[in-house]
Amino acid sequence: MKPTVAPFPAARLRRTRKSPAMRALTRETSLSPNDFIWPVFVMAGRDGEDPVASMPGVKRRTVDRVAAAAREAYALGIPAICIFPYTAAADRTEDCAEAWSPNNLSNQAIRAIKDAAPDMVVMTDIALDPYNINGHDGFVENGEIVNDRTVDALVKMALAQAEAGADILGPSDMMDGRIGAIRAALEGDNHQNVSILSYAAKYASAFYGPFRDAVGASSALSGDKKTYQMDPANSDEALRLVQRDLAEGADMVMIKPGMPYLDICRRVKDTFGAPTFAYQVSGEYAMIQAAAQNGWLDGDKVMIESLQAFKRAGCDGILTYFAPAAARLLG
Ligand code: PBG
Repeated sequence: MKPTVAPFPAARLRRTRKSPAMRALTRETSLSPNDFIWPVFVMAGRDGEDPVASMPGVKRRTVDRVAAAAREAYALGIPAICIFPYTAAADRTEDCAEAWSPNNLSNQAIRAIKDAAPDMVVMTDIALDPYNINGHDGFVENGEIVNDRTVDALVKMALAQAEAGADILGPSDMMDGRIGAIRAALEGDNHQNVSILSYAAKYASAFYGPFRDAVGASSALSGDKKTYQMDPANSDEALRLVQRDLAEGADMVMIKPGMPYLDICRRVKDTFGAPTFAYQVSGEYAMIQAAAQNGWLDGDKVMIESLQAFKRAGCDGILTYFAPAAARLLG
């Protein structure tokens, strides 16, 4: 559809911008706390919090503190939380066995949040990197990140998370065939109502730097993730990945990072019409916070504008570290 505009002065496009009420009436998209999934970092211990240096305002929390924070977030209108574990060095091994331990940090956090805020949606991350001695999302054999053996491990991880009570599983590993394998395992194990939000179009991005800090994976990572995460130069490939993951049983799909990839969000939404999410990742958050701390940007305004951009690009929701701050501001 081509927009039709009368010639000036019949058309004065400023008419619909003349007052706050007129602008509210003609606003094309809206942003509310309901649009947010809040990613949180969990660490071992009790009653403790540690700041993440490269993400001002973000903390790692012990399980009890995460549960309390979840309850507060839910009261602010945030419907969903996503758990990322900060795994102790001793639990990072070559066989990654901690990933599917029923009592690992992430699974403890699922149960604690479900206890504290039973109506909140709990999302998890499926990938081996928090548990892998070399920081990769999959097993490494002779320098290669192997696919099929990794998928078997991801399935075990998925079942442990579903068993702990997760509502949404988030495979972020970019292995081939994992959505179908996880979906079949869930169906076979009486977890028919567990959703999969596939990190379908996940790029090999330098914007993940602060996150790897937050989960203690930066020093562990050997090499890069380019043999499984996408080339930032590609766009059509994202559509093939989304198509594939939906066909294998993903309920929702994600584009990641967010702001530099809004063109992908729009294409995915227009092509498939599926529930579409973007991850405003750690580096995007860090850039905005750093500029705000220097007084170079109005942090609150840029936060809201950046989140609105996702809705405008067609996203149904956003994973964002800003979730509580933005929810408070939106009221
Ligand atoms: C790892 C994972 C990453 C993020 C979420 N899950 C990092 C990576 O792929 O190296 C990044 C999130 C962020 O940067 O905020 N499976």
